[in-house]
Amino acid sequence: MKAFIFDLDGVIVDTVQYHYESWVKLASSLGFQLNPIIQEKLKGISRMASLDLVLAQGGITATPEQKVEYAKQKNDWYLESLSSVNDNVVLPGVKEFLISTKEAKLKMAIGSASKNAKTILAKTSIYKSFDTIKDGNDVKNSKPDPEVFLKAAKSLKVKPSEAVVFEDSEKGIIAAKAGGFMCVGIGSSDVLTDADIVMEDLTHISAEMIVRLLS
Ligand code: BG6
Ligand code: MG
Repeated sequence: MKAFIFDLDGVIVDTVQYHYESWVKLASSLGFQLNPIIQEKLKGISRMASLDLVLAQGGITATPEQKVEYAKQKNDWYLESLSSVNDNVVLPGVKEFLISTKEAKLKMAIGSASKNAKTILAKTSIYKSFDTIKDGNDVKNSKPDPEVFLKAAKSLKVKPSEAVVFEDSEKGIIAAKAGGFMCVGIGSSDVLTDADIVMEDLTHISAEMIVRLLS
């Protein structure tokens, strides 16, 4: 094992709720209440793919221009809600886990669908921990396509078989497996059924333990 590739939202930073609340706001501005059943499906996919799901739930058809406007509105609300975040957005156990990853001499990358990945990381003290950051600005195809993870691995100069992906979304796990990576699911094993192993979060676990569990 030579590298760990981390999804951002829901694995490294606690932003899932901020994304969701911005979609709830958008839905209500369009005249409907978002059904929470959509929340799991919104994880991991791109902003425009998320918008399509939200609009479909509300039975709304929109022109391409309206879609751009709605996506911008959602993103403005999302960024507004992040305006005062700092290290408090970093999920429990993450800092310690990144330190153990460095001690284990593994390379580290971010592989995220978000176009805001660098903006968010720049608000924290862990930005410099990563050897490379690949995000929604770097890919044509978003998760469940493996492109973002393959680009991260390439940038780290490792093969997919030499890297582990950490993901909290079903779509991200499908992407990791499709790319030939081992995958640690972060969240509930009832939902993340395709992951090689599932952890509730990154507390009480070290890089060395993950490598041992997967070998
Ligand atoms: C993913 C999130 O990481 O990024 C999704 O799980 C989000 O909820 C997607 O929609 C795109 O993010 P952004 O910041 O580009 O709108
Ligand atoms: Mg995620």
